[in-house]
Amino acid sequence: MSGQRVRRSVIRGSGSALPETCVTNAELAKRVDTTDEWIVERTGIRARYIANASETTSSLATLAAQRAIAAAGIAASDIDLIIVATATPDQTFPACATIVQHNLGCNGGIAFDVAAVCSGFLYAMTTADALLRGGNARRALVIGAETFSRILDWDDRTTCVLFGDGAGALVLEAVDGDADDMAAPGIIATRLHADGAYNDMLYVDGGPSTTQTVGKLRMKGREVFRHAVVNLASVLAEVLAVAGMTSADLDWVVPHQANYRILDATARKLSLPAEKVIVTVDHHANTSAASVPLAYDEAVRDGRIRPGHMVMFEAMGGGFTWGAVLARV
Ligand code: UT7
Repeated sequence: MSGQRVRRSVIRGSGSALPETCVTNAELAKRVDTTDEWIVERTGIRARYIANASETTSSLATLAAQRAIAAAGIAASDIDLIIVATATPDQTFPACATIVQHNLGCNGGIAFDVAAVCSGFLYAMTTADALLRGGNARRALVIGAETFSRILDWDDRTTCVLFGDGAGALVLEAVDGDADDMAAPGIIATRLHADGAYNDMLYVDGGPSTTQTVGKLRMKGREVFRHAVVNLASVLAEVLAVAGMTSADLDWVVPHQANYRILDATARKLSLPAEKVIVTVDHHANTSAASVPLAYDEAVRDGRIRPGHMVMFEAMGGGFTWGAVLARV
């Protein structure tokens, strides 16, 4: 043992929240020109949750945060950093994170949102990890929360069937330990990327500074699909190389849930068995920044992901943005 000390960001607990209303493909097909068969065959999606008028991004985020705090066995007042990854905040400003902070009653620490769409949770985790290791905060809430149903064009069947609403949260805590302790829990490696040359592939056609409207989601699905598989396989290989590991060292991959075919193709590229990939796209659809923590929380609560497991988180989305985080939980 070298005796050298390092600070790691350790996942202490997770929580999630879904809207009350679940909408199946068959129910959607009553108001959109689509079929259950098409949606299942092309995406693996069977149902999604849609927020009602009283459910907002901040209310879902707050519920997920409260559940993560309870799972971590801490008090809300212990939290001194809140990052909310969202592309659908309650308002243009203030940041959704400040609303969540006030709802939790832990005012005074750091609170801000990150906008990296479907990769937002990876951007938020990486930022929280840096702030915790740098000594800016001790315990962080990292939240992905979305109400994408509010920015969907319900007359565009090529996009509206793909998305759902929800929120997921992790509590991360800064813990000092021995640098040589390879079994210690904590975030091991992170990598983020963006390529703005593709920002017209997946975007919202409005905003405060252009149309002064919220706008609707637009996507060139086939192009996004093609880039997703290539970019995700590449960033996963990059993070494994940084950690000096191979895909055989992973217990679980918790991917962004956009399309079952993307999960399958990415796993094949890395020779990862399908049993190691957490899949929730069938019952959550694509919940953008919320999808990774929602999937993680589900797999922790049903006992699949357990303490000591090596878990890879990954996502790709509008921007394009993409990234991956490797952690021992
Ligand atoms: O979260 C950020 C990342 N997002 C993604 O990763 C999404 C990536 N893209 C995808 O998942 C897929 O490209 C889609 C699911 C969006 C589309 O699947 P696809 O296999 O690429 O289908 P397509 O766009 O090539 O469309 C095939 C056909 C078209 O008809 P024609 O032109 O072949 O006659 C569409 O008009 O399917 C038709 N179609 C539909 N039919 C029934 C498109 N949407 C629907 C629908 N119901 N909802």
